[in-house]
Amino acid sequence: MKPFLIGLAIGTAVLFLFINFGSSFRSEQPISFNHKKHQEQGVECAACHSHFKEQTFSGMPKVAVCMECHKDSITKHPDEEKIRQFQKMGEEIPWRRVYQQPDDVFFSHRRHVVLAKMECKACHGDIGQSEKPPAKPSVKMTMKWCMDCHTKTKANNDCLVCHV
Ligand code: HEC
Ligand code: HEC
Ligand code: HEC
Ligand code: HEC
Ligand code: HEC
Repeated sequence: MKPFLIGLAIGTAVLFLFINFGSSFRSEQPISFNHKKHQEQGVECAACHSHFKEQTFSGMPKVAVCMECHKDSITKHPDEEKIRQFQKMGEEIPWRRVYQQPDDVFFSHRRHVVLAKMECKACHGDIGQSEKPPAKPSVKMTMKWCMDCHTKTKANNDCLVCHV
């Protein structure tokens, strides 16, 4: 092999390690949350992600929302106690974001969920059935992904619609 190719191979391997470390690090959530068990209890998405009907964002649940049901112990799960500890310290639970667009991209939940009547599943897959926090997005939300659907649904694909 030419030195150039060897260098390229090593460079690629290092890059892969970086990407993998990056994503496994990001995947760790402060509490091992279980969407499935809450869905089985009939808790609606909007109880915890309460803004998508009026806003561009959906929002992550405040500790007060968890406390509505977990003020007293109702499970044997060791992470349940952590909820009350965050509450006692007067802190919010520092949820890490899995889905996040760059600052210059404009996205609106209200637009898609209320006006276009799309289901959460169409973009987030079956996260409602997840038994632990997903390590990475189930859908890669690239520009091509957005534009392909806009083409299919005859939605606007002008650059300035998504880039502000
Ligand atoms: C509407 C009531 C309700 C709300 C709000 C709620 N939970 Fe729960 N949660 C439950 C119930 C009921 C269970 C027990 C479900 C079971 O064992 O099947 C549970 C179970 C759990 C468990 C144990 C899961 C497991 O795998 O055994 C954890 C951890 C948990 N909840 C965290 C949270 C967090 C964090 C929040 C806030 C983001 C929250 N819950 C909000 C009702 C609620
Ligand atoms: C009881 C509270 C609760 C309910 C109900 C709930 N979620 Fe969540 N959701 C969370 C918490 C806590 C996290 C962060 C931990 C995780 O990913 O499991 C989260 C993470 C997410 C994320 C990833 C956000 C990001 O960028 O990191 C999506 C998407 C999501 N939920 C969609 C849904 C959908 C769709 C429903 C209804 C089917 C739903 N959630 C119901 C509490 C809830
Ligand atoms: C058309 C695709 C699409 C649909 C439909 C959709 N989302 Fe999202 N969601 C996204 C994108 C894109 C982001 C990242 C947004 C950003 O970074 O500005 C996101 C981010 C999130 C987040 C992270 C926190 C936040 O404040 O945005 C949650 C939670 C979430 N979505 C929940 C939901 C729920 C619940 C539904 C259904 C009611 C839903 N999403 C429907 C594309 C979608
Ligand atoms: C699965 C299909 C689908 C996906 C994926 C999707 N969109 Fe859309 N989008 C639509 C539809 C349909 C509309 C038209 C909604 C309406 O009726 O106003 C729309 C409308 C919009 C609008 C408003 C357009 C206008 O005319 O003002 C913006 C901005 C937007 N989307 C951004 C995004 C971004 C950014 C992404 C990717 C992160 C994305 N969309 C992914 C289907 C999709
Ligand atoms: C339907 C929404 C949508 C439309 C329309 C769109 N983009 Fe994007 N664009 C995105 C999203 C989402 C990203 C970030 C995700 C990624 O990098 O793939 C992005 C990323 C980019 C980036 C990389 C830098 C950055 O902002 O992160 C450039 C450059 C860009 N777009 C240019 C354009 C141009 C030029 C057009 C018009 C021909 C266009 N985009 C139309 C959604 C869109």
